[in-house]
Amino acid sequence: MFPAKSALSIHFSILIFLSRLLFLTSSLESWRADKHVAMFVFGDSLFDAGNNDFLNISIDYKADFPPYGETFFNFSTGRSCDGRILPDFAATYANLPLLLPYLYPGFNNFSHGVNFVSAGADVLPQTDPETLNSRIQLSDFKKVANLLKQQLGDAEAKKILMDAIYLNSFGGVDDVRFLHNNRNPTESEMEEFVQVVMGNFTDVIKVN
Ligand SMILES: *[C@@H]1O[C@H](CO)[C@@H](O)[C@H](O)[C@H]1NC(C)=O
Ligand SMILES: *[C@@H]1O[C@H](CO)[C@@H](O)[C@H](O)[C@H]1NC(C)=O
Ligand SMILES: *[C@@H]1O[C@H](CO)[C@@H](O)[C@H](O)[C@H]1NC(C)=O
Ligand SMILES: *[C@@H]1O[C@H](CO)[C@@H](O)[C@H](O)[C@H]1NC(C)=O
Repeated sequence: MFPAKSALSIHFSILIFLSRLLFLTSSLESWRADKHVAMFVFGDSLFDAGNNDFLNISIDYKADFPPYGETFFNFSTGRSCDGRILPDFAATYANLPLLLPYLYPGFNNFSHGVNFVSAGADVLPQTDPETLNSRIQLSDFKKVANLLKQQLGDAEAKKILMDAIYLNSFGGVDDVRFLHNNRNPTESEMEEFVQVVMGNFTDVIKVN
């Protein structure tokens, strides 16, 4: 998928992951009581529930073969994991069903939310063009928002979107690529890169 992570980037990713987890558990507590909450998930392999399996893409980006899934689903679901991924635990905690991938054939009832994620996806549009980068995922979200408005009416759709839980694991692939291309970056080069990634992600979210 991408070159082996350096110790630095693994350290970095674990920190980001832990801080997200802390944020998530505290946020979910307040959503738990709401029975009608939906969840929308964006990001990379940490959160992909199987969208890549429906893309014409290299096997390096897929997880549709054993041992993926064996400890929980008993078959591979496209999650880059032997069992459930963080959004699955979050969904269960929020009294939601496990969210299906957006590309799951025939699936078009998004009132509980959906998973837009693509393993290998980055914020900056520089990945293999086949993965669903941040711009594509947010544009898919826009399509779902419009569909909800058609199905449920503006007021109800707006309520669902406003109350929803939004999960995001973007950024890790950008970091790994940066560290692969810049073996010994200075502190200011790293800071500058983070600004570029954050700037682009902010643009994507604002446009949507
Ligand atoms: C899938 O991708 C391969 C390689 O890029 C291409 O040759 C093939 O035509 C594609 N198949 C479909 C159904 O798009
Ligand atoms: C997976 O298989 C085990 C053992 O057969 C079973 O207990 C479990 O319910 C299965 N899980 C699912 C999600 O079907
Ligand atoms: C979508 O699913 C929800 C929850 O399962 C259900 O209440 C609703 O009727 C479904 N909507 C459509 C249009 O099928
Ligand atoms: C977005 O990324 C490009 C490099 O891919 C960079 O030149 C540009 O400044 C970034 N935009 C923002 C708003 O940071």
